Amino acid sequence: MGIQFTGWGTAVSDRVVTNDELSETLDTSNEWIVERTGIRERHIGGPTSVLGLAAARAALDDAGVSAQSVDCVVLATTTPDSLIPATAPIIASQLGITGPAFDMNAACSGFMYAVRVADGLAATGTKRILVIGAEHLSRWVDWNDRTMAVLFGDGAGAVVIDATDGPSDLLSFDLGSDGSLEYLLNCAHGGTIYMNGKEIFRRAVRVMVESSEKALADAGITSDQLALVIPHQANVRIIQAACQRLGVDMDRTIVVLDKYGNTSSASIPLAVDDARREGRLSPGDYVLLTGFGAGMTWASAVVRWSL
Ligand code: ACO
Repeated sequence: MGIQFTGWGTAVSDRVVTNDELSETLDTSNEWIVERTGIRERHIGGPTSVLGLAAARAALDDAGVSAQSVDCVVLATTTPDSLIPATAPIIASQLGITGPAFDMNAACSGFMYAVRVADGLAATGTKRILVIGAEHLSRWVDWNDRTMAVLFGDGAGAVVIDATDGPSDLLSFDLGSDGSLEYLLNCAHGGTIYMNGKEIFRRAVRVMVESSEKALADAGITSDQLALVIPHQANVRIIQAACQRLGVDMDRTIVVLDKYGNTSSASIPLAVDDARREGRLSPGDYVLLTGFGAGMTWASAVVRWSL
């Protein structure tokens, strides 16, 4: 039993905050932010349930299926609307879904973890799974801290995943974690996001490359066969360094962090959606999806595009 990705959707708030706007209240500049991160603007506004619901509706429309046909909703998020209840059942109920719905948190690797969970659910009899990655990170950012405030944005992406007896779109995956690195990136209850950016940067490049190489080997392909790399969108310099080590030039990668900033669990589906709208994905293409995040966690997958 395998899975097919049958419809994608995204959602962001209309409120765009540019680097220049941030520079009005913070000791920073558009030049510094663009040069050090690649980010030019971000969409700000939630909550997670509203963004996730809108992305889910768009994905269902794209797949041409009804919400009632969904058997399970998996929401990857680090920023649920509340601690209790989970946000997935709220989204599910607004869609009229009464099947299982739950949140999971693997930080910026969350969307890929959720796809892997959907793969497992499909293998054990669940027919249609709605996977959502949605974040309202701006709620947890200290807007007076220039080292953090410039990095993050809000957004959501969703995909409809169907179980199939035929060939799977998901050829391989590699997931992992190292909780001993919790101190590098965290947000305590009631606190704001803290990150040791330099150390995360160094480890992110290494872990993305190692994890991607494992997923490629498991799929039985090499990086030169990849049509596209769709990486987590944290910093364009991380993407450049990882792609260089993988032997993939930047023409074969997707960068949307200039428009969205780092949206954690939402960043990979936002990038997939952009790639589709730009006509950069064709049936049969090999695509590498790879991410890393707080935990630390990491996740890579090789997909054979079939839409
Ligand atoms: N504007 C102007 N100056 C700034 C800003 C800013 N917004 N932020 C920091 N600076 C200053 C620093 O204070 C420092 O000044 P100093 O030299 O006088 O001390 C100088 O710029 C350099 O700071 P660094 O932190 O060394 O800058 P660096 O090049 O490392 O870039 C950054 C920082 C962008 C955070 C980078 O380290 C990074 O992207 N790290 C990885 C982030 C990441 O991938 N996070 C993943 C998150 S995943 C998840 O799960 C949420």
